[in-house]
Amino acid sequence: MSGGISQLFNRFSEEPPFRVLAQKIVKYFSSSLRQKAKWETADRPNYLTGLLKAADQAKSQGLKEIIAIEFGVAAGNGLVCLDKYAGLIEKETGVKIWVKGFDSGSGLPTLLPDFRDHPDQWRQCDYPMDEESLKKRLSERTELIIGNVRETVPKFLTKNNLPIGFVSFDLDLYSSTVDAMEVLFSENQKNLNRVILYFDDVDFFFNHKFAGELLAITEFNEKHANVKIDKWRGVQRETVFNDRLWLSRMYVAHDLRAISDFKLNRSAAPFAV
Ligand SMILES: C[S@@+](CC[C@H](N)C(=O)[O-])C[C@H]1O[C@@H](n2cnc3c(N)ncnc32)[C@H](O)[C@@H]1O
Repeated sequence: MSGGISQLFNRFSEEPPFRVLAQKIVKYFSSSLRQKAKWETADRPNYLTGLLKAADQAKSQGLKEIIAIEFGVAAGNGLVCLDKYAGLIEKETGVKIWVKGFDSGSGLPTLLPDFRDHPDQWRQCDYPMDEESLKKRLSERTELIIGNVRETVPKFLTKNNLPIGFVSFDLDLYSSTVDAMEVLFSENQKNLNRVILYFDDVDFFFNHKFAGELLAITEFNEKHANVKIDKWRGVQRETVFNDRLWLSRMYVAHDLRAISDFKLNRSAAPFAV
């Protein structure tokens, strides 16, 4: 295709009436991981897009290895996807990706005795795990860390020295999310300057900023001066399907200290317009 025709094709293929057909073509005929992410052909586009961005950032920071985490594993379908995408992204970027899945193994723990854990939605013991059968579906890059995140996260932080690049929060409860979010801040651990985050429970009708994950995000930002969580601004640029709900669940943890210390070494114009 000549340059002009190819540009025209790209332009029209992304318009609503044509994009579904174009998506099928990419799904069945393209071997490019970046095209698959852009055209949302993966089962969990939130995981593929988030982890790919994290690996690209790791590369730009000169890092060779990162960790990807899923908080809240349950039956494990999300973790199996993360494990698979980590392998594909590793091939694409050359960045080694280790995956950790944190879960109690026995479903939701005791809820707080007030509205913040949404007792109107969740009950203790919801979403138990079959640990042995899940382990058989995972590659050796992925480790299951079983126990309450209140104990397993501090323990993990004392041992871990690799930067965290991507984290999915799907623990349902405000109380569990508060404990898990401590993984984003540790004096002796350097994460990516911008860690990609996915929050699963922020856009349901019952959600509000005084409970659940939204309250946990507000409190994290109040507590930590050096790491701040905000929405992933412009995440719509990552996909042709820029009206999807999952996009509003993508956040970024910005390391303000690392960015303050940054010395820009560039002679060219700031960025292309
Ligand atoms: C909705 S499920 C996760 C679903 C999974 N991410 C998926 O996509 O298939 C929530 C999980 O969070 C886990 N969980 C909640 N609070 C926890 C805590 N404090 N410690 C460990 N696991 C917890 C529960 O065991 C449950 O399996």
